[in-house]
Amino acid sequence: MNGSLLFVSSIIILIDVVNGCPPTCLCHPISQTVDCRNRGLAEVPSHLPAGTQILFLSNNDIQRLSQRTFRGTKTLKVLDLSNNSISGLLPETFKGLEHLQILNLTNNFITYVDNKTFSSLPHLRELDLSSNNISRLPRTLGNKTENITLLSLKYNQLQEVDRVLLESLPNLKMILFKGNFWQCNCQIVGLKLWLESFLYNGGISDEVICSIPENRKGKDLLKIPYELYGTCPPTASHVHHVCWHHNSEHKGSVKHTHPSEYGGNSTRANCEPKSKPRPASLRHSVATVAITGVVCGIICLMMLAAAVYGCAYAVITAKYHQENSYPGKEQGSCEEKEPFENSLA
Ligand SMILES: *[C@@H]1O[C@H](CO)[C@@H](O)[C@H](O)[C@H]1NC(C)=O
Ligand SMILES: *[C@@H]1O[C@H](CO)[C@@H](O)[C@H](O)[C@H]1NC(C)=O
Ligand SMILES: *[C@@H]1O[C@H](CO)[C@@H](O)[C@H](O)[C@H]1NC(C)=O
Ligand SMILES: *[C@@H]1O[C@H](CO)[C@@H](O)[C@H](O)[C@H]1NC(C)=O
Ligand SMILES: *[C@@H]1O[C@H](CO)[C@@H](O)[C@H](O)[C@H]1NC(C)=O
Ligand SMILES: *[C@@H]1O[C@H](CO)[C@@H](O)[C@H](O)[C@H]1NC(C)=O
Ligand SMILES: *[C@@H]1O[C@H](CO)[C@@H](O)[C@H](O)[C@H]1NC(C)=O
Repeated sequence: MNGSLLFVSSIIILIDVVNGCPPTCLCHPISQTVDCRNRGLAEVPSHLPAGTQILFLSNNDIQRLSQRTFRGTKTLKVLDLSNNSISGLLPETFKGLEHLQILNLTNNFITYVDNKTFSSLPHLRELDLSSNNISRLPRTLGNKTENITLLSLKYNQLQEVDRVLLESLPNLKMILFKGNFWQCNCQIVGLKLWLESFLYNGGISDEVICSIPENRKGKDLLKIPYELYGTCPPTASHVHHVCWHHNSEHKGSVKHTHPSEYGGNSTRANCEPKSKPRPASLRHSVATVAITGVVCGIICLMMLAAAVYGCAYAVITAKYHQENSYPGKEQGSCEEKEPFENSLA
């Protein structure tokens, strides 16, 4: 009994060794999973079974990832590096992970992200950068970010995030911002506009709570009225020109500043909040109403004159005929007179 158990386990170990399962990890060949959680590892194991798709490395003490770390694991789809001590990501760290879909880097010491770091991950869907020490993000997360649907930036040191970065994630469904040091000055208008549009179109997010300036500390960015950003330079949001342009196109629309007019379009978020365009559109509508009134009045007067003239002419003509041919006949209305006479003639 004992012997056969020993035999079976040694077979398993043998299979593991042949497959290349790292000695401290558990390998599940059927699900192509390697589980190295809670092993006190200081480095990513250098050899993994061929074809590994899921690699759990959370709760270890990994500090560095070199350019060669994932060279032999190109089949990975899920990589969980959460709760380690990684402080930096090199531009080429994840190079070659063509199939990677989920990358979990939460709870590390990452301070900076390069715009090339995620450029080689065309299938990346979920990127968890929460609970790190990131104070600055690049303008984009690379040029292959179109498949990202979830991005978590929670609990970092961020003060702002570039609108260009957000707009380079066209398929984003969820983004998490909580627990940062959002600086709610002029440069945050881009984020505010983007976030409103994102939420309006069904995106999911949490709160952007301001920590600077003092008078907005603790306030939710979405609840700060746009009027307070009225003095910001137009470049803060890159959208003022679009709005003014729109205003001059839709002449005389009184409902112009109403949100429903823009449907699910981003134009809505761009233009709706602007307070400046309102007087212009109001002036437009007043002018249009005045012009319409004058034109209508003139047309009405002309029609009235024509009617009076026509009626008078008919009456005179009728009188003339009556006097000449039917002295005793009663007078009809203007409209009846003509056909009656024609039939007689
Ligand atoms: C992180 O990993 C350490 C071991 O390295 C563990 O003691 C700790 O509980 C883990 N933290 C979380 C939040 O899982
Ligand atoms: C990343 O791992 C943490 C636990 O370590 C988990 O709570 C979180 O949901 C994971 N993130 C994603 C995107 O799967
Ligand atoms: C995308 O970025 C990678 C790495 O920076 C670069 O090698 C590649 O040429 C870029 N592709 C395009 C289409 O810009
Ligand atoms: C996004 O994923 C789809 C399907 O998984 C793939 O065809 C496409 O090439 C990916 N996008 C990029 C930028 O590679
Ligand atoms: C986070 O980064 C700041 C500098 O940006 C540094 O002073 C601080 O010690 C870092 N915190 C951790 C936990 O690494
Ligand atoms: C990364 O940023 C540099 C400038 O900081 C820029 O020249 C380069 O085109 C960017 N690359 C990508 C892939 O966005
Ligand atoms: C948004 O507006 C643009 C033109 O400004 C239009 O091409 C696009 O179809 C609109 N999208 C929606 C969802 O209405």
